Amino acid sequence: MTEKKKHTRTISQIERGTVIDHLNPNVVFQIVRILDIDDDTEEQVTVGTNLFSKHMGRKGIIKIGNRFLDQDTINKIAIISPNATVSNIDNYEVVQKFNVEIPEEVVSVITCPNPNCVTNSEGVATRFRLVERDPILMLCTYCERYIRENEIEIT
Ligand code: CTP
Ligand code: ZN
Repeated sequence: MTEKKKHTRTISQIERGTVIDHLNPNVVFQIVRILDIDDDTEEQVTVGTNLFSKHMGRKGIIKIGNRFLDQDTINKIAIISPNATVSNIDNYEVVQKFNVEIPEEVVSVITCPNPNCVTNSEGVATRFRLVERDPILMLCTYCERYIRENEIEIT
């Protein structure tokens, strides 16, 4: 293989859909699960992990044909991979590109680790306030339990 060939782009550009880039490589398949992508899909999906990145060293990327993400899904991605970028593609062009951002209040996204919290027994939707962004620290509105980045469990 020539030097030139070795550096050829390995992931195809997509015609229409979403590119989630600059993912933390340790959470790529967790995000695949959040996106609910499984073997029934008819769309083109590319999943890459531990890819070389100029800025991050290693990164993950997910490309999904003909799908655009709702805000809830974007918030989930933000919580587990805060440096991710999302690009919407149409006709091979990037029509919108943004950085994900954890909202000040996170509703129905994270499970409260406190077994006595009302959200674990009464069917109340979970609600957390973002106290610190980096590293993530959140506060349960109901039981006032603090949760750190490594305790986060997406609902
Ligand atoms: N992309 C794609 N299909 C297209 C256009 C873009 O899959 N038809 C992907 C690119 O490979 C990239 C992302 O969408 O992962 C954003 O595209 P662009 O902003 O053009 O890429 P870069 O400038 O290389 O991105 P960055 O600086 O964010 O790494
Ligand atoms: Zn709680």
